[in-house]
Amino acid sequence: MKIKHDVSLKPYNTFGIDVIASSFCNIEHVEDLRHVLKTKTTKPFFILGGGSNMLLTKNIDALVLHINIKGIKVIEETENHVIIKANAGENWHNLVLWCLDHNFGGIENLSLIPGNTGTAPIQNIGAYGVELKDVFVSCEAVNVSTQSTKIFLKNECKFDYRESVFKQELRGKYIITSVNFKLTKHNHDLHLNYGAIKNQLEAMAIKHPNIKDVSDAVIAIRESKLPDPKDIGNSGSFFKNPVITKAQFKALQSNFPNIPSYEISNNELKIPAGWLIEKAGFKGKRFGNFGVHSKQALVLVNYGGANGRDIFELAKLIQKTIHRLFDISIETEVNVI
Ligand code: EPU
Repeated sequence: MKIKHDVSLKPYNTFGIDVIASSFCNIEHVEDLRHVLKTKTTKPFFILGGGSNMLLTKNIDALVLHINIKGIKVIEETENHVIIKANAGENWHNLVLWCLDHNFGGIENLSLIPGNTGTAPIQNIGAYGVELKDVFVSCEAVNVSTQSTKIFLKNECKFDYRESVFKQELRGKYIITSVNFKLTKHNHDLHLNYGAIKNQLEAMAIKHPNIKDVSDAVIAIRESKLPDPKDIGNSGSFFKNPVITKAQFKALQSNFPNIPSYEISNNELKIPAGWLIEKAGFKGKRFGNFGVHSKQALVLVNYGGANGRDIFELAKLIQKTIHRLFDISIETEVNVI
């Protein structure tokens, strides 16, 4: 385990922002993580997983711990289910593919989400009608101050829409090293309610889909509207979809009769932020080497060489404009650093 100095983080964040970390350490084993936390006390730590949910706006004067612990295995099996343990450094989509290879069902709707397994619980990743919390059993995490391991059961994680305890009160206090998932071995419970999935399966002429078909459909949908970070730097949805009251919604409807919404409780609705941003005229807008994606307005993009501060200024302009036009506050989903 070697500590390097003045390392560019460009290859380690999907936005492709070029900032420098004063120190950097690649962590491949839990024991190495404990060792470094115990012995390197002079600098603050900066935890880096897949770098898929962050916008870096400045150089990082800290010891970056790149959590790169690999390994996936079945740890328990019954007639109908398996519990698998995936280490934090496993690329999320590789984990999905591994599950499909073994015919384990539950995370096929979460295909092609960028990032690593260890950071997936932090924001309870979700797409096409499934969230990580639906298959999550527990995770192991190392306490940054004491280096002891704690097992977090599902109810302790306080999962919500793009939220968990690790984003709130335990932010920066624990480093997740592995996650356990409960998956089905057969009679998979397919989640096909999302309109786009139904349409895609129809377009693929698949009448009786299996989990691989669902994954293929999700991959096709994502590829059609979300830019691949390998080609265009981005962090997926930059903003969360805002939740408003039905009374607020009614008032908005008189000015914007076509405003889309999803009911989430008796009194609340979720509005697609992508629609608000498109309506505000930002979709596909390019400002030199950064801008708003042309096929999904929720995604801010780096066309190459952009500065994180410029992208953050654009995000603030979008937030202000949405507030002025619709009286709705939209929060960032991406961590701005
Ligand atoms: N829409 C527009 N213009 C746009 C984009 C969206 O009008 O440019 C409207 C349309 O009405 C569309 C609706 O928004 O029907 C919903 O769009 P979409 O299905 O693309 O979903 P989303 O709400 O924009 C969320 C997640 C995505 C996830 C998809 C599918 C958030 C913040 N984003 O996007 O997650 O893939 O649903 O489940 O909840 C991510 O978190 O990085 C991410 C990509």
